[in-house]
Amino acid sequence: MNVQAYDLRDDDRRPPVDDLTGIVQRGLRLKPKRLPSWLFYDERGSRLFETICEQPEYYLTRCEVALMARHAADMADVLGEEVRLVEYGSGNAVKTRMLLQHLHAPVAYVPVEISPEPLRRCMRDLAEHFPGLTVQPHLGDFTRPLRLPIPPRASRRTVVYFPGSTIGNFETREAAELLRKMRNEMGDGGGILIGADLKKDAATIEAAYNDRAGVTAEFTLNMLVRLNREIGSDFDLGAFRHRAHYNTMAGRIETFLVSTREQRVRVGRLQVPFGMEEAMQVEYSCKYSHEDFDALAGKAGLEVARAWTDPEAMFAVYYLVRAGSLRH
Ligand code: AVJ
Repeated sequence: MNVQAYDLRDDDRRPPVDDLTGIVQRGLRLKPKRLPSWLFYDERGSRLFETICEQPEYYLTRCEVALMARHAADMADVLGEEVRLVEYGSGNAVKTRMLLQHLHAPVAYVPVEISPEPLRRCMRDLAEHFPGLTVQPHLGDFTRPLRLPIPPRASRRTVVYFPGSTIGNFETREAAELLRKMRNEMGDGGGILIGADLKKDAATIEAAYNDRAGVTAEFTLNMLVRLNREIGSDFDLGAFRHRAHYNTMAGRIETFLVSTREQRVRVGRLQVPFGMEEAMQVEYSCKYSHEDFDALAGKAGLEVARAWTDPEAMFAVYYLVRAGSLRH
């Protein structure tokens, strides 16, 4: 593998501690209180997420992997020859490998990651499996403008790969903004290959975010562990609990950290009061019908060119292109 390790440049986009304190303080001043879900993913959080993926209730990963096993070759045919594949996030080595395996003479694989550890792991993994592949890792926040590395040779198209239904963590407006950003990144003839969790009965969805082993609860609470360590806050871990519930009307899982008593938490110079049973929102995981996803794509100037689902229609992978380009 031709790994451009020297290209692992840090764009200084990781918020410094002061910023982190500010971000948390701002979120805690909102009503209801609200913290951004990307705060989950420190090293321990990333490992806990991988353990979530192995839980029997968490169907998303299993279904998407099954879907890839069945359709990755077809996807590769649709993407065509000499693709530059840009992945937003790099924590999905299994699915990425399933796709890369079938790509026809890919020009480069560009994983975009905010933290260096998973990026290194991804590089090691690919070096082993795809010795001929040019990998151009890019350290940065994919919600900000990217300066993607120059490809080693001209590609026929840039395809952004965004598996895992991570798009579901964004509310419709932000999701459309993010898709529009990908649309700019991929250019005229490019595309987006994106995973999305589909709407289904509430009990199945709710169980996926309330696994019996308690891994998801641990994952949610880890956000407070991280904040205590990184910004010196004094959240009492015994006085908050995980709650995830499916809001059928909104079509999304809403995850909260619930204060089990009246308490004050110090965050920087701020003393933050929590009421008994007060719920602080930490994550949305939106679920889609095909119509929902068509509409979302439309908001970003895109349209669904192809859709694949697993046999039970639990999960979908869509191929999006610029709206109108299907008719040319
Ligand atoms: C990684 C965003 C797809 O929303 O299902 C899993 C994260 N949170 N369990 C999801 C998550 C709680 C996950 N995504």
